[in-house]
Order: sequence, then C-alpha cells, then structure tokens
Amino acid sequence: MKISVLFVCLGNICRSPLAMNLFKREVSERGLSGHFEIDSCGTSDYHIGSSPDSRTVENALKNGLEINHSARQLTPSDLEKYDYLLAMDRDNLANIKALDPSGQYEDKIFLMRDFDPEEQRAEVPDPYFGGEQGFQNVYEILKRSVSHFLDNVVEEHKISTPRQ
Ligand code: 4NP
Repeated sequence: MKISVLFVCLGNICRSPLAMNLFKREVSERGLSGHFEIDSCGTSDYHIGSSPDSRTVENALKNGLEINHSARQLTPSDLEKYDYLLAMDRDNLANIKALDPSGQYEDKIFLMRDFDPEEQRAEVPDPYFGGEQGFQNVYEILKRSVSHFLDNVVEEHKISTPRQ
C-alpha cells in the first residue's frame, strides 16, 4: 500500500503546489518514489484548472526547482483517501475539518508547520498579496518542513531507504 499525502492551501496555486513539488523531489532523491502517492489541492474554488502562480514558479526556479500542477479543489473523498492531509494555515485546517464533522479523520489532518524543525504551531504565510521576499520565505519554510515530515513518515512506517 502506498502512503498518500495531500498538501492543502487556499488557492492551490502558491503554497501547496510548491510543497507538493518539494516533497516529490525529496522523496525521489531518497529513492522512495514507489512508496508514495502525492498531490495538492485548495480549499477554495478560486483557481480550479490554473497553473501555479508565476511568482511561485519563478521563485522555485531561482531555487532550482521546477513546478508543475493544475489546481483542483479539496473534496470530501480526499479525507477518506489520503493518509496525511497537511494544511498550510489554520484557516485551511478549519476548512478541511469542516468536511469531517464527525471527526473520524482528525488523526490524519495536520498543520504543515507541525513538522517545521525551527518553529512549530506556526502557519505557512499566504504569499499571494505580498512581494518576492514572501515567496522566498515560503520556499525556505516548506523546504525544511517537508523534509522533516518525510523523516517522520519514514520512521513511523519503518520504510527502509535503498542503498545508494
Ligand atoms: P495559495 O495562495 O493558497 O498558497 O495558493 C493564494 C492564492 C490565491 C488567493 C489567495 C491565496 N486568492 O485570494 O485568490
């Protein structure tokens, strides 16, 4: 069984597609791609079908990462399907939990920065209405958070890393 991971923000054009592509790269670099199913989505319907925001794409490229995605909206079936749902901020955490009124999936819904080794209980700030520095800040937060999240999953599921 693959371990499925869904990154969730508001528009699915800035933070969550970046988190998804950073995580895919990290998983691939560790030789673990076969163990995972990875996607991202937004809790809003604002940008369904759109490519990632050009500022996110350019910032990622500057940092050596290519980003690909087509935005989609979170659906109730995502809560059933995914093993980990990682919300970028508290509003989106609440938006996910609103689709789980009985709380049956609450154990798999997290804030992304619960896995930030530098600062927990924080949010990934929305860079949409800000400048370039905001995008770089989001890149750095997500790079270390997805890496630490992967460390946790590898340990929890006792996945052995293939020899190089
Ligand atoms: P994201 O950023 O949630 O990281 O994709 C946003 C994208 C669009 C909007 C807000 C945040 N918006 O209001 O359209």
